[in-house]
Amino acid sequence: MAKRQSLHGEWSSRWAFILAATGSAVGLGNIWKFPYITGENGGGAFVLVYLLCIALVGIPIMIAEIMLGRLGRRSPINTMRHLVREARANPRWQYLGWLGVVAGFLILSYYSVIAGWAMAYFFRVASGMFDGADADQVTAAFDGLLASPEVLLAWHTIFMLMTMLVVARGVRAGLEAAVRLLMPLLFVLLAVMVGYAMSTGVFMDGVRFLFEPDFSRLSGTSVLVAMGHAFFTLSLGMGAIMIYGSYLPQNASIAQAGFWIAGADTLVALMAGLAIFPIVFANGLEPGAGPGLIFVTLPIAFGNMPAGTLFGALFFLLLVFAAWSSAISLIEPAVTHLVEDHGQSRIQACVKAGLATWLLGIGTVLSFNWWADIKVFGKTFFDALDFLTANIMLPLGGLFIAIFAGWVLSRRDSERELGGDHLGYRLWHFTVRYVSPLAVFVVFLRSIEVI
Ligand code: TRP
Repeated sequence: MAKRQSLHGEWSSRWAFILAATGSAVGLGNIWKFPYITGENGGGAFVLVYLLCIALVGIPIMIAEIMLGRLGRRSPINTMRHLVREARANPRWQYLGWLGVVAGFLILSYYSVIAGWAMAYFFRVASGMFDGADADQVTAAFDGLLASPEVLLAWHTIFMLMTMLVVARGVRAGLEAAVRLLMPLLFVLLAVMVGYAMSTGVFMDGVRFLFEPDFSRLSGTSVLVAMGHAFFTLSLGMGAIMIYGSYLPQNASIAQAGFWIAGADTLVALMAGLAIFPIVFANGLEPGAGPGLIFVTLPIAFGNMPAGTLFGALFFLLLVFAAWSSAISLIEPAVTHLVEDHGQSRIQACVKAGLATWLLGIGTVLSFNWWADIKVFGKTFFDALDFLTANIMLPLGGLFIAIFAGWVLSRRDSERELGGDHLGYRLWHFTVRYVSPLAVFVVFLRSIEVI
């Protein structure tokens, strides 16, 4: 296979890639979504299934996706085009690249709205709005935010502007510079939060909720949600990791990077759980509160603990940073596609992709107020978009990535990219050929019965 150079630049080192991919992986998924879906799905058993999905499906597909990206060194669409041609495979495989670009665009449209909540909460908490607040006041404040489309829209607009600003600056000056600053800061802030949770006196209640499996609380949908989340949290199945992989220097070890990224991401999710659930239990709150979980529970704690304004503001700042470094990876595939196939400059591509995403985001903004009663399959616009992308498009994308890497791509190519025919390689090859596709397939089947 011919060696290609990326048209958009390269990471300065293997570590820069690991940092950037970790920045992509660690986001609202870890700190907002993981705790609330764990709460909704009963805790321990759900966490166990999620961890299994990370190990059996997530890591092998992560390695596959980085590898396809580095082999293709183009936007996901052109990467698949090249790889299909070189493998003389069915041209329909190209749609895999399209699926990714579309999924990223769809996800960012609602991701940005939720990131907007976090920005609003940074200012709300910092202003002392929740000092001494009780559950009713905090809930009313959250409902008030959701009921104001103009406020949601303003934050959504600001967050999209921030995202496109970084993406417009390009691989090194934009993406890499941003994550170098944000990731270490984020980790320190989270450690402070876990430290606080340990001081609540009910830390072990949180630990038990997260790690004591009670399988009677696990439904077929829970298993689908756990698997969908494994893809979502690792940024897999839509070309984000593929495009980041396409900027990876040739001499870097892909497998090692995959383990680091998945490990760091899982660590952050579990830390977020350990930081949040003790506070939930210490205040007699409800773990199954849904998407509002961290917004209706944490402010109560922040409003009533010493230095709560400071910790609270730090926490939401952290959430915004985490969301920011993820958002850039959601739109990068679409931007590279516009640059490569439509002859646009990076800036033009950013304006177009950003504008389209912003427009679609208005649907999510309205789904919490004016359109709250408009339901498709019993779901609001936001819920439907979340379900379609996280639980269907990502696992489907991941399934096809595994099949392509395991069955279509020649063994010679994958062997060379992954450093030769050693035990680790064989284990990976077996997993992407049989284990991961089967796992995704079985979970899909189970959930069709449930739906
Ligand atoms: N992984 C990020 C999070 O957990 C979200 C994200 C970024 C993502 N890029 C992605 C999800 C690509 C799916 C696909 O918040």
